[in-house]
Amino acid sequence: MRDEPHRVIRGPPTVTPYEQIFQNNRRWAEEQLRTDPEFFTRLAIEQRPDFLYIGCSDSRVPANQIMGLAPGDVFVHRNVANLVNNVDLNVMSSINYGVRHLDVKHIIVCGHYGCGGVRAAMQPKDLGILNPWLRNIRDVYRLHKAELDAIKDEAQRYDRLVELNVTEQYINVIKTAAVQQSFLARGFPTVHAMVFDLRTGLLKDLKLDFRETLRNIQEVYDLTGTVWR
Ligand code: CO
Repeated sequence: MRDEPHRVIRGPPTVTPYEQIFQNNRRWAEEQLRTDPEFFTRLAIEQRPDFLYIGCSDSRVPANQIMGLAPGDVFVHRNVANLVNNVDLNVMSSINYGVRHLDVKHIIVCGHYGCGGVRAAMQPKDLGILNPWLRNIRDVYRLHKAELDAIKDEAQRYDRLVELNVTEQYINVIKTAAVQQSFLARGFPTVHAMVFDLRTGLLKDLKLDFRETLRNIQEVYDLTGTVWR
């Protein structure tokens, strides 16, 4: 007589990754209430974040977590390769709403090394619907071609393109009427550029001088000749 095959004692039926989200959510909500019973009561009243964050959609770069910010602390806009395109109604709405209605004090443009969007933009390939989107990054390359071509190491050149892309998107934010007019009238928001390093988990501030950038670009892009709001 053959031995019975070893029987695995089964635990409770496993949940799907989608169902898991709701289990996580209930646990998270309970945990929030345990540490702060008024947490959701306050959250439901209004949002008054100090920060507007514009970053990449990449799943490895979660805005709140990398900055250690709680719900309510940061208004978030994310898209492929953290682009600030002047005809993208989505990002322009986020900036306009963030500045004119939420009165954010800081706008952060955050890129990340290892960005798939930036890498894809540099391939000699037709990427369909992504072409017009990623062309913004090719434009960044063209603007900084001399500097980038001088970097012989490919990985370093790619890292630098990520930084220059963030820099150009930071400039694009400063070109907006909302930012220029609010800063003139109220002294905020200031705009910052930073890069997240997936290899270390650390944020690198590119330390760009907002006032200086504003002064420089207003020679061409000045939109402050109208009344605020
Ligand atoms: Co990315």
